[in-house]
Amino acid sequence: MNLITVNEEKCIKCEMCIKECPVNVLKMGENVPEEVVESNCIACGHCVAICPTTAIDNNKTPLAQQVDAKDFPKLDAEQTEHFLRSRRSIRNYKDKSVSREELTKLINIARLAPTAENSQGISFVVVENKQLIEKATEVSIEMIEISPLRYLVEDAVTSYRKNGVDSIFRGAPNLIITIADKDLRSARDNSVSSLTYLELYAPSLGLGSCWAGIFEYCASIENSPMLKLFNIPEGKKITAAVMVGYPNYSYKRLVDRNPLDATFIS
Ligand SMILES: Cc1cc2nc3c(=O)[nH]c(=O)nc-3n(C[C@H](O)[C@H](O)[C@H](O)COP(=O)(O)O)c2cc1C
Repeated sequence: MNLITVNEEKCIKCEMCIKECPVNVLKMGENVPEEVVESNCIACGHCVAICPTTAIDNNKTPLAQQVDAKDFPKLDAEQTEHFLRSRRSIRNYKDKSVSREELTKLINIARLAPTAENSQGISFVVVENKQLIEKATEVSIEMIEISPLRYLVEDAVTSYRKNGVDSIFRGAPNLIITIADKDLRSARDNSVSSLTYLELYAPSLGLGSCWAGIFEYCASIENSPMLKLFNIPEGKKITAAVMVGYPNYSYKRLVDRNPLDATFIS
């Protein structure tokens, strides 16, 4: 495929690139690693990123586009635990929309998440129009009212109809929807991975987020009206969604989950 070039003078023949490749694109040649004939590179970039001497390049993941990792300080275990545990689902938002620049920063991190076989394939529909989100709340409630699963979210219907409370998007000013080709096999997994990155990154911009699970259910129904409402292109499906905005409150404590349930087999 002529994807890969190796600089013979720089290569120290450590073979890390060969061992790192998840799909065996490389083998040791006479002097340096070389690409196998029928290669199936998934563009993960590991071969280039692992090389200690910048000897290898790959057209699919060029060295020139990779950032030097050693310049960034690593969080220690305590900081990392705090960072992960302090992300919470935000259900009360300030009446202030998020700038397009900040929304773009969020989805730009989301696109870096791991995906099955590096398939990626997720696009983002970023909703900045509060009226459109309110319309989607109305449509969601109408759909739930006639759904066999209504009993699961009865309170969302009742509080909306009685008091106008939005339990679908929680009054968030922005909504980020992931979409993918209808036939992308790992579309949901990839979307969950991407939006998890987004959720973890959001607090560093002063933002909060929350999964819009009820909306996801409504959007995943065959010929869902949400496809038209959000102008989703033909051949695409809605795979996940999170609401985004500036949190009204901050959390004072980190909570625990169920006790660890694990089996070690040795
Ligand atoms: C797939 C998924 C769907 C969810 N859907 C909703 C939802 O529709 N509305 C909501 O308020 N929270 C929703 N959540 C948030 C969970 O309720 C929340 O993650 C859980 O209670 C733990 O709280 P925490 O995220 O603050 O740690 C969803 C979470 C996930 C992972």
